[in-house]
Amino acid sequence: MPPDPSSGPFRAPSGTKDVLPPESAHWEKALVTFAQLAHRANYGLALTPLFEDLGLFTRGIGESTDVVGKEMYDFADKGGRRLALRPEFTASVVRAYVQHRPVAPWKVYYAGPAFRYERPQAGRYRQFYQVGIEVLGSADADLDVEVIALAWDYFRALGLNHVSVRLNSLGDASCRPAYRSGLLAYLMDRRDQLCPEHSERLEANPLRVLDCKKEPCRKASVDAPAQVDHLCDECSKHFARVRDGLDSAQVPAEPDTRLVRGLDYYTRTTFEFVAEDLDVAQNAIGGGGRYDELVQALGGPPTPAIGFSAGLERLMLARRAQGTAAEVVEGLEVFVVDVAGGDAARALTRQLRQAGFHADRAFDGRSLKSQLKSADRSGAKLALIIGPDEIEAGVVTLRSLRHAGAGQQISVGRADLIERVRKELL
Ligand code: HAM
Repeated sequence: MPPDPSSGPFRAPSGTKDVLPPESAHWEKALVTFAQLAHRANYGLALTPLFEDLGLFTRGIGESTDVVGKEMYDFADKGGRRLALRPEFTASVVRAYVQHRPVAPWKVYYAGPAFRYERPQAGRYRQFYQVGIEVLGSADADLDVEVIALAWDYFRALGLNHVSVRLNSLGDASCRPAYRSGLLAYLMDRRDQLCPEHSERLEANPLRVLDCKKEPCRKASVDAPAQVDHLCDECSKHFARVRDGLDSAQVPAEPDTRLVRGLDYYTRTTFEFVAEDLDVAQNAIGGGGRYDELVQALGGPPTPAIGFSAGLERLMLARRAQGTAAEVVEGLEVFVVDVAGGDAARALTRQLRQAGFHADRAFDGRSLKSQLKSADRSGAKLALIIGPDEIEAGVVTLRSLRHAGAGQQISVGRADLIERVRKELL
């Protein structure tokens, strides 16, 4: 078919973004750093499908949430199954736990894209990347501390210093219903002052009003009762131990009685990490909490659990805003220039890589000048040059490309090459 002249080239769909070199090097660092931290704390990698039964999310996350009510990428497949692209990972991890029944406590981490049909803007995408951890099978408050502290250490490792931690407790099945009724009664008296959306959906979930960023809801709920003042003994003790643990781990958590989060599965501890340099619309770089009732709600045995996720697009924005974006993963070390036919480049590049160096080469049999230009542009510290003279003498010319000493050259025998390259790169 001839190309349709009226249609321009394709572009990435609205609300998605390509992450390409060199920007992707920052992502690589963020992913590798997260995997290392998670491993050190004994979390194993969990890979779950990108799509699941729609019901997993509607039941797990809650029909009254924006994520389920407005933002799901749901569809029927060719077999008529109702499926949805995952809007987050927690429900999928719980589904996998219920399906496979691993030994508890089960500690897993993950990284990958999630999908929400939101209005695209800076830091808010329809496909975005999350990293996170989940622990299933323990109610110990020390795990709340472990999860929050791991997230905190992660942000520090990425060079983010202006991050605040907001902390709340949403109680449990024994103290939440009474609090919820009290809050509902309080807000019913002020229903006409709420924003239209929350006025209409008040009975479905009165806690949502506390999370609403709009002025009318803010004003009407200024003196609303707070869950932390209505916790049962068990929840109160749990919350006190979490706060003590965070104090001794030197994680500066600030109480925030409005922090109810946008997903309905939370119980007890909830938390959010806020990058202070970003606009309020996208300053939540990560969040999480306990979800002690979710496993049972999804058909498993009673199993307390906690986890956290962070959004990589927002981490990148925060890194840029805090001026930490310049430092990237290790760059290229050696660039091979071959003007003697290319056989030496082929063998040498492989040998260098096997010896652990970051190495690349020029292709297409270009001129010496053009290959040296590529070597300069590549950011490599050292060029290894092979021409007919070098082949004849069994040597390689090492040329420094670093600012100090750029252009200095020495000849090295093939047998000593790897050792010499190692020394030159010190
Ligand atoms: P969440 O707060 O919905 O929690 O998302 C976690 C993070 O994902 C947010 O703090 C934000 O950085 C990022 N994020 C969310 N939506 C978008 C978007 N549209 N564009 C860019 N970034 C976004 C959860 O997803 C829970 N599963 C966290 C959790 C784990 N709770 C327990 N375990």
